Amino acid sequence: MKSIIASSALVVLAVVQVALADNCNVGLIYCGSSLLGKGNYQPQIDQCIFDNHQSTQDNGASTLFQCAGGPNGVIQYLVNCGIGHCHDGGSGKNDTCV
Ligand SMILES: *[C@@H]1O[C@H](CO)[C@@H](O)[C@H](O)[C@H]1NC(C)=O
Repeated sequence: MKSIIASSALVVLAVVQVALADNCNVGLIYCGSSLLGKGNYQPQIDQCIFDNHQSTQDNGASTLFQCAGGPNGVIQYLVNCGIGHCHDGGSGKNDTCV
């Protein structure tokens, strides 16, 4: 019983931490650098890169992610464009590799 209470508390903490970031717009594609401009997305970017068994030279700033939505603004790994090759399409538009 005690461990159930403890793990529930951890879940609540995790949700609060993620909620600090401004959520991405569902379906839109973002460079990591664009996500960082929206809020505290670095932990999610790091987790997403790790979960997909990828690595980057710039902590995901030049990698494209698609916003899958959900309450935490979940992101999915798409592709690493390489440093200097991730283009910010602007507000409401998809970012792209160039
Ligand atoms: C962004 O890309 C996704 C996936 O290719 C597409 O479904 C969506 O319509 C695009 N959105 C815009 C605003 O171009």
